[in-house]
Amino acid sequence: MASSMRSLFSDHSRYVESFRRFLDNSTEHQCMQEFMDKELPGIIARIGEAKSEIKILSIGGGAGEIDLQILSKVQVQYPGVHINNEVVEPSAEQITKYKELVAKTSNLENIKFAWHKETSSEYQNRIMEKKELQKWDFIHMIQMLYYVEDIPATLKFFHSLLANNAKILIILVSGTSGWDKLWKKYGSRLPRDDLCQYVTSSHLTQMLDNLGIKYECYDLLSTMDITDCFIDGNENGDLLWDFLTETCNFNTTAPPDLKAEIMKDLQEPEFSVKKEGKVLFNNSLSFIVVEA
Ligand SMILES: C[S@@+](CC[C@H](N)C(=O)[O-])C[C@H]1O[C@@H](n2cnc3c(N)ncnc32)[C@H](O)[C@@H]1O
Repeated sequence: MASSMRSLFSDHSRYVESFRRFLDNSTEHQCMQEFMDKELPGIIARIGEAKSEIKILSIGGGAGEIDLQILSKVQVQYPGVHINNEVVEPSAEQITKYKELVAKTSNLENIKFAWHKETSSEYQNRIMEKKELQKWDFIHMIQMLYYVEDIPATLKFFHSLLANNAKILIILVSGTSGWDKLWKKYGSRLPRDDLCQYVTSSHLTQMLDNLGIKYECYDLLSTMDITDCFIDGNENGDLLWDFLTETCNFNTTAPPDLKAEIMKDLQEPEFSVKKEGKVLFNNSLSFIVVEA
């Protein structure tokens, strides 16, 4: 049966809303916060050594929530040192939210912010054309490499921009997560566009190995509460379905047999755990720290 399914990325506002619902119904940002509290101080301990300014580059910084957590850890590590934080982010909507968050956050006096409304490859091309290879002390790519066309070339380019003692932090879904199973089993039957790749930390570490780039990888458990996905006509469930399948209006446009199959699988232990009447999808994250 022909289906009218189309990629969630073709409707940017719905994508932003479904991502918001994902954040509200998952421990995604709490898991990242835990990593920033426990591991980040050690990781950034030397990035500002003997430097009068610390340069941070955020690729796909979104609405800035995690970026500000990172900045607060750098401030604690290097009190009073000037920080130059530049953000490469193609979504005007996300940049506006990021700016609003900065405007209502206190204690950012020593940080200079700049936003570039462009993709990482547009940024790469612009920098290469200018031959302005500024070095950075910390670069992060958090939950965004899915949207990059040539990931190895991107890794190689940003790795070449690292200053002394600098690091790159990459966060992606883990190869042990439910996402990996979902994409492997159903990826070929879901709508795709050129904008999104089914990439997990397993692919990424393989790419880094091939490039001969050194890294450390940490895995943390995170879950996404998908209970509402099993309630017919539930608006929150509909948006979570869209996020899970990266499909716009999945619930109303998917062939019924596909939906029934995914629905059954999502309740299986390799995808989710059931706890206190809730269905919790395995959203485990990998934190990959790349050395200069
Ligand atoms: C899933 S969100 C993650 C946002 C944020 N880092 C976080 O974890 O909350 C992905 C972000 O990457 C941005 N993005 C998409 N394609 C991109 C690209 N090619 N280069 C840079 N950023 C991109 C999106 O606009 C979005 O803000």
